[in-house]
Amino acid sequence: MKKLTIAIDGFSSCGKSTMAKSLAAQLGYTYIDSGAMYRAVSLFAIREGLINDGKVDEAGLKTALPNLRIEFKQGEKGQSITCLNGENVEEAIRTMDVSNAVSPVSALPFVREALVKLQREAGKQGGVVMDGRDIGTVVFPHADLKIFVVADATIRAQRRYDELMAKGQPASFEAILENIRSRDELDQNRAVSPLRQAEDAILMDNGLFNIEQQDAWLLNQVNRVLHGTH
Ligand code: DC
Repeated sequence: MKKLTIAIDGFSSCGKSTMAKSLAAQLGYTYIDSGAMYRAVSLFAIREGLINDGKVDEAGLKTALPNLRIEFKQGEKGQSITCLNGENVEEAIRTMDVSNAVSPVSALPFVREALVKLQREAGKQGGVVMDGRDIGTVVFPHADLKIFVVADATIRAQRRYDELMAKGQPASFEAILENIRSRDELDQNRAVSPLRQAEDAILMDNGLFNIEQQDAWLLNQVNRVLHGTH
């Protein structure tokens, strides 16, 4: 059977990675979290002192970028682990510090160029579910299936809050909501590859679904593409 390229784009904390992971596991496809790549570059920039008062030292980051290696490894439970120069940074890239730094870093054209190249390389064989902001518009404009996910900002903030609490990383709900709103704004209005729904993407309002409904809806979309059914 044909191995599809599936692009899942949308706003931050919309549950894209949960659904993309689950779909990839059900289909036996590779899951790629493109946001984790932007987060890894941001973590690197923070650690190297290349972000001060929210401003990125662009020249410094550009020089350092070729020394940065981002890979995904499989954990014991089959989960995807983001590695930065060989180090497991899966936890470190999910902190609020990184969430606050990632929008200016991901707006830089040379960062996007380098990561889009890696993403295309990772997905060139097909049989891939990739989530992000520009997968259906820029990375894989000819993807077999494109989904664009939206959900109310307060629902998203609550989910992220619950996630951080469960990990023992308490954070303020208001700070999370503020971060989500400002990332929405920056993601949609940046000059390079702004977040927007591709013309041929199917809209999913994830605030209306629970996990089972979400999985069933997605699988239905995949079957429609694979078998031409409705
Ligand atoms: O999906 P996420 O929240 O982990 O993504 C982190 C940030 O990376 C997000 O604020 C926007 C950026 N991003 C991007 O610009 N393009 C992508 N394809 C994926 C993420």
